[in-house]
Amino acid sequence: MRGDKVNRLLIRDETESDYRVVRAIHEAAFGQSGEASLVESLRVAASPRVSLVAELEGERVGHIFLSPVRVEGQPPRGACAGLAPVGVKPSAQGRGVGSALVREALGRCPALGWSAVFLLGDPDYYARFGFVLAAPLGFRYESELFDSHFQVLELEAGALAGGQGWVRYHEAFSAL
Ligand SMILES: CC(C)(COP(=O)(O)OP(=O)(O)OC[C@H]1O[C@@H](n2cnc3c(N)ncnc32)[C@H](O)[C@@H]1OP(=O)(O)O)[C@@H](O)C(=O)NCCC(=O)NCCS
Repeated sequence: MRGDKVNRLLIRDETESDYRVVRAIHEAAFGQSGEASLVESLRVAASPRVSLVAELEGERVGHIFLSPVRVEGQPPRGACAGLAPVGVKPSAQGRGVGSALVREALGRCPALGWSAVFLLGDPDYYARFGFVLAAPLGFRYESELFDSHFQVLELEAGALAGGQGWVRYHEAFSAL
């Protein structure tokens, strides 16, 4: 069963012909248009970036985006990315699509020079990929209110050691 599930799932780079469907995926996943609009802004303004589409049984059902972040304070060694947003159509959730998108996106990071990835999300979901809370390591997002959900994954051993500060996302996030 497991192999069958994997065979029916394809993760690939987004192309221009996906833009309309990607918008619909995020609107359905989040129940609002903010994340879909964020993707449209980041496509134009963020570089480098990772933008991947998931096809399940030939249907486009998921999308993930990673863009550069800046650390104000003592930056870690190497550049860092922010993972946001990731969305899967509600009808396709719980079938491994989100996990496959996250794993493939993380695999793309070293080639882009990213040594760590930050995100704001539910620790119960992201722990499976190795994400840990960022605040105990000295990294914060916006305010202490986010400490319980702001997470980081070190991709290059030791990249975060000695770093600390406020993690700033691309200015397009301020419209969210
Ligand atoms: C979060 C999301 C991308 C996961 O995609 P998915 O394809 O359903 O994920 P998977 O099938 O790979 O994993 C499902 C598992 O994640 C868990 N899960 C999903 N969303 C979760 C959440 N918000 N918190 C904790 N666990 C969550 C499910 O319970 C399931 O757990 P199990 O493997 O122990 O059974 C998807 O649910 C989604 O689009 N949600 C709405 C948008 C969103 O919140 N995005 C993330 C914030 S940027």
